[in-house]
Amino acid sequence: MWPFHLIDRLENASALDAVAARIKPVVEKATSNRTVTDALHGVWLGHPLHPVLVQVPVGAWTSAAVLDAVPAMRPAAGLLIGVGIAGAAPAIASGWTDWSQQDTQQQRTGVVHAIGNTIALTLYAGSLYARRRNRVGVGAALAYTGYAVAAASATIGGHLAYRQAAGPSHAVPHAEIAPADWTDIGALSDLPDGTPGSARLGEVDLLVVRRGQQVDVLVDRCSHASAPLHEGELVTERGRLCIACPWHGSVFDVQTGRAVHGPATAPQPALDVRVEDGRVRVRLPGLSLG
Ligand code: FES
Repeated sequence: MWPFHLIDRLENASALDAVAARIKPVVEKATSNRTVTDALHGVWLGHPLHPVLVQVPVGAWTSAAVLDAVPAMRPAAGLLIGVGIAGAAPAIASGWTDWSQQDTQQQRTGVVHAIGNTIALTLYAGSLYARRRNRVGVGAALAYTGYAVAAASATIGGHLAYRQAAGPSHAVPHAEIAPADWTDIGALSDLPDGTPGSARLGEVDLLVVRRGQQVDVLVDRCSHASAPLHEGELVTERGRLCIACPWHGSVFDVQTGRAVHGPATAPQPALDVRVEDGRVRVRLPGLSLG
């Protein structure tokens, strides 16, 4: 449907790669502190932080658009526009942090999303400036233009999150097709000891981590972007044994599946494990649909 089919073209617009290539070193330099990037990805929240933070500018600017329609309320609209501008800063920081770990096609769309947001932000800054110079009508016109640009940019952001799957857990669809019952995945003695191994549960690939008689099993496909975790490296974080993703370095606790470091924020589904008579049996608690 017009004009939404144009959004589909963004991800294949290779001309945007040159823009992304110029931005990427700047973003990577600004996001070199892992504690900060984990916070901006939303690891502490267990969910992506960017969609949470954008509520501030979107909500403030939507409310301002309503108040600007009532001339007597335009001073209050100016206040809300200022709140939206201030709230945009952390949303921008988290957005670029997520963007830095996305694939090429996602980054193309992300660049256009960011350009749109920058234009909207500039228009709102102009609106605030005009209001301070008592040109309230001009300020309202700039704000409405900014709102239209922000809405278009949000649509592109939605395409990035949903159509291009930059936001959802890529592990959950695998977990949902796992058998519901306890299932034998092989002999304990066949599993590598102290290094990441793999197994199959129906159609689902598993990461298997064995230390002697102790076995932990996670869905193998990384929740961030589907990397095979069994090709990653075992590491110790805060005294816990973890697996580091081979693609973008997310770190997951091998017992609980919790994301310890991003860019992943969603946990890896962890399976219940039984070792009986030298055989390893697993089931996925809660998520299995049969
Ligand atoms: S696929 Fe990106 S961190 Fe695993």
